[in-house]
Amino acid sequence: QSSVLHKFKGILFSTVSSEELLNSLDSFHAREDDVFLVSYPKSGTHWIAEVIENIPNARITLTSPIELGDMSKFEELKMYCKRRIIYIIRNPKDTAVSLFHYYRDNPNLPGIETWAAFLELFLRGDVVYGSWFDHILSWEEHKNDKNILIIFYEEMKKDPSENIKKITTFLGINVSEGEINKIAWKTSFSEMKNNAAKENCDPDHTVCALTSNRNLVFRKGAVGDWINYFTSKQKRVFDELFTEKMKHSELARHVEDYA
Ligand code: A3P
Repeated sequence: QSSVLHKFKGILFSTVSSEELLNSLDSFHAREDDVFLVSYPKSGTHWIAEVIENIPNARITLTSPIELGDMSKFEELKMYCKRRIIYIIRNPKDTAVSLFHYYRDNPNLPGIETWAAFLELFLRGDVVYGSWFDHILSWEEHKNDKNILIIFYEEMKKDPSENIKKITTFLGINVSEGEINKIAWKTSFSEMKNNAAKENCDPDHTVCALTSNRNLVFRKGAVGDWINYFTSKQKRVFDELFTEKMKHSELARHVEDYA
């Protein structure tokens, strides 16, 4: 597809994640107190990261993305963090639109001609980090594990405080109602977008291996923007694949009303 991406075990990754690094992830042993923030790209990863960073006394240090950089990152990871996992999911149509813009705006991703061309790649899973459908399905079997918290972007939009409370409770941190509301305010889209515009391009300022430029992350931050992109035929094709692939997925039930 392009020299900025390469395939590893059938899935496209950025060339910043070398084959050697990706191989070593298979044998990576997490520390007992590690917390992993996991997502398909463009699902609201930076939002959740910002929530975690704003929890008073959380004593959690955000590291750069695990698939970025060199092996020493693993040492860094081993030093901090309980093997708990927060998985953020966003409806796939908005995710696709968001990723389309990311392909267009981010110099570390291949150029893309049209929305129609991108959507075909997305449906085939021929985009960076692979298929949205397979990503969700691979976590499906773990959805009831005690050490996993699943957060949905759309629910987070609807009731940020409620979902922030879920996160602090999951992390075992006592936070007052007032502080929760303060976190909600500080992590609102407009606040985060404004702050990104004020910040300089600090390599530690994204949790995305595809860029260190935070200005590329905050675009629209809305639910349902897909309606401005999908033709009725594209929606039909998408829905058919969704129904077929996700028919046994409980996680997908949570987002289907939005997609
Ligand atoms: P859009 O492109 O639809 O605006 P990630 O952090 O996983 O890369 O996801 C980026 C997407 O989450 C972008 O979607 C971005 O605008 C959105 N986002 C980031 N912070 C947000 C916030 N505080 N509230 C709502 N959406 C947010």
